[in-house]
Amino acid sequence: MNLMSNQSSNEFPLDWLRQTSPYINTHRGKTFVIWLSGASLNHDNFLHLVHDLTLLSHLGVRLILVHGMRPQIDSELAKEGIAPEFIERKASNQPETGQNSVRITEPAILPALRSALGKVRCQFESAFSKGLPNTPMSGAQVTLCSGNFVVARPYGVRAGIDYGHTGEVRKIRANTINKLLDLGLVVLLSPVGYSPTGELFNLHSEDVATQAAIKLGAEKLIFLHDKAKDITDGLTREISAKSPISQQTLPIELDPLKFVIGNSLNACRHGVKRCHIVSSQQDGALLKELFTRDGSGLLIDSGNYDTIRLATTRDVTGIKALIQPLIDEGILRDRSLQDLEREIHCFFIAEREGSVIGCASLTQFGLQAELGCLAVDPDFRASGKASEIVQHLIKEAKHRQCHTLFALTTRSGDWFQEQGFTPDHLDQLPPEHSFTSSNLNRGSKLFTLTLN
Ligand SMILES: CC(C)(COP(=O)(O)OP(=O)(O)OC[C@H]1O[C@@H](n2cnc3c(N)ncnc32)[C@H](O)[C@@H]1OP(=O)(O)O)[C@@H](O)C(=O)NCCC(=O)NCCS
Repeated sequence: MNLMSNQSSNEFPLDWLRQTSPYINTHRGKTFVIWLSGASLNHDNFLHLVHDLTLLSHLGVRLILVHGMRPQIDSELAKEGIAPEFIERKASNQPETGQNSVRITEPAILPALRSALGKVRCQFESAFSKGLPNTPMSGAQVTLCSGNFVVARPYGVRAGIDYGHTGEVRKIRANTINKLLDLGLVVLLSPVGYSPTGELFNLHSEDVATQAAIKLGAEKLIFLHDKAKDITDGLTREISAKSPISQQTLPIELDPLKFVIGNSLNACRHGVKRCHIVSSQQDGALLKELFTRDGSGLLIDSGNYDTIRLATTRDVTGIKALIQPLIDEGILRDRSLQDLEREIHCFFIAEREGSVIGCASLTQFGLQAELGCLAVDPDFRASGKASEIVQHLIKEAKHRQCHTLFALTTRSGDWFQEQGFTPDHLDQLPPEHSFTSSNLNRGSKLFTLTLN
């Protein structure tokens, strides 16, 4: 991971640390459901993942972890000399959820299931309990909590095959989970559930994660996947749940991820804002996805109307297309693609069906913040969109303890006054603000809003 790209490794990563603050503010108090494949628990990177999850919890993210355990069950079965039995699922036109095969869970394999479950839970509890000095876990207090939070129903008999104790998610006890998250606990969900008769069922962990994210109204569902490490620049990095996607139209490089993509699309279509598929094997991939503008994995966006969110580098071309006609008209200051890439962590966008329809930047100068580059696509004007963006930025500026928000504009002074801003003298600009000669030539005027 190259989080310190502009500095030598022995320098303190000051710039990077500062650039993460908008992301820290955005993520604080939000609910993330994070799935870890069974294979990732056996990988060397598992302990790094635990460190990064601990950091997220300390930054105020409400965490629900969901683990797979297919290899763990297989290894318990191998000890008993029992061959695992799976039924392949037929290819369908729509991206499917779960995995490409379903285990037949006969009563004889329940002891192996229980044994794998106990061992995996112990592995988690032990990893989150480490706190030796001089390790990233030093002084860290994260309490994991697991229990009977998932109600299951049998998968039943299909095409004449009895799947035994294989089940499906029937209900997630979301209220209970929310109360535990309120207490600051990290909730661990396993791929098992109990029926109202108390029977144990073996579930697809991907489905448990997806249903938990939907029922809890999670901000993000993140799949830490062992096959995601090859998603690099140049390949598909973003999919909108609003676009018509079928198993056939998925780019070939995403084939190994098609089932988790199916789960992600399902989650987005049921209210989860964003899903991410990130490598479970690359050290730091999760933090890079959440705290850098470039990210590291595949993003599946709900494409929901009226989303206002922090921009990422994936939005640079959309922002440029939106502001270029206004730059050409002299309404907005010129910003090249490189400028936008450099400043992207300051930008917020309004998004509709995956397109940038509005944008604005928020740049902090101590207790003051500048609202800049406000623009709304002409097709979406006069419907309150700019007002909505400004309200979002006011909230964000207050969240960052700013007491004043200001804007420089050549033609929209009246509009800013209607939003509650008042004209001000340019000498009220913060000293560190570079009011460039290009701004002087443009005759920009200053408008300020006191935040309370
Ligand atoms: C200014 C701008 C962001 C407003 O976007 P919007 O989404 O249409 O704004 P809202 O829907 O919240 O407000 C619309 C109202 O503001 C009025 N309005 C729009 N631009 C205005 C301007 N420059 N001066 C005064 N009023 C303006 C509209 O006529 C409309 O009024 P109405 O409701 O009485 O019809 C948009 O016109 C734009 O992108 N302009 C070019 C870029 C710009 O000037 N940015 C500001 C400099 S940072």
